[in-house]
Amino acid sequence: MKPILEIEAISKRFGGLEILKDISFNVSQGERIGIIGPNGAGKTTFFNLLTGDLTPSDGNIRFRGTSITNEPNYKRARRGIVRTFQKNNLLVTLSILDNLLLVLQRKHGINHTWFKIRNDKYYNSLYKEAEELLTTWGLYSQCNVKVENLSYGEQRQTEIMLGIATDPDVLLLDEPTAGMSQSETDYIVNLLHKLPKELTLMIIEHDLDVIFGLAERMLVLHDRQVLIDNTSEVVRKDPQVNKIYIGSEEVV
Ligand SMILES: Nc1ncnc2c1ncn2[C@@H]1O[C@H](COP(=O)(O)OP(=O)(O)OP(=O)(O)O)[C@@H](O)[C@H]1O
Ligand SMILES: [Mg+2]
Repeated sequence: MKPILEIEAISKRFGGLEILKDISFNVSQGERIGIIGPNGAGKTTFFNLLTGDLTPSDGNIRFRGTSITNEPNYKRARRGIVRTFQKNNLLVTLSILDNLLLVLQRKHGINHTWFKIRNDKYYNSLYKEAEELLTTWGLYSQCNVKVENLSYGEQRQTEIMLGIATDPDVLLLDEPTAGMSQSETDYIVNLLHKLPKELTLMIIEHDLDVIFGLAERMLVLHDRQVLIDNTSEVVRKDPQVNKIYIGSEEVV
């Protein structure tokens, strides 16, 4: 089967500073890929290149065989490449439910203005879909709470739910469990395990238990390049990874 994503010799420079250099790899549909590397290694920058929040200085990105290298982010999102942010990117003065309804409304191409939606004939079916998602993601009891009044972990949880709500083909999670309590982390990891098999997932994460648990393939970014691209099992035991990433030569 053709790869869902083809990354060909991607580089990114900010002014004279090269952050990523000659990155190449393919992603098959349904793969679960973890990306690790030290702070500042360029992990978030790489996601920005995939989503169109940044364009590469060199190289090419193909999605299902079509070049998307210079396509803006909203077009890539429409193709099904969706991300969550390292820091939350929510409409904080709205409730969780209203954030979700906005996402669902957009997904279904319902172009009525936001404030009319509650009188709209689509409201019932949108609400039902929202209710199911809120229940699955453990946010139903809080659905009318303004996002700004949620804990940081709950806000992260909300952002992941909103990403899933768009029915993405490729979901990019940038440190999904950062700032979450252990119980919130366990809850989210459990749900991420249950995502549809055909969904392609790429996860940046500093919590090694989380990332090794979720990803079957790991990319290690170091010194601007992909230092290692191998199974999680191999990467977990790699002494070089332990030395660079964890600062110890002991095996995890
Ligand atoms: N828009 C920008 N302009 C200039 N430099 C940038 C820009 N975005 C990122 N950088 C720099 O690129 C480098 C890589 O940043 P990036 O955020 O991709 O790292 P990261 O691997 O996600 O790190 P972390 O683990 O801390 O999240 C950093 O040195 C950062 O300062
Ligand atoms: Mg980052």
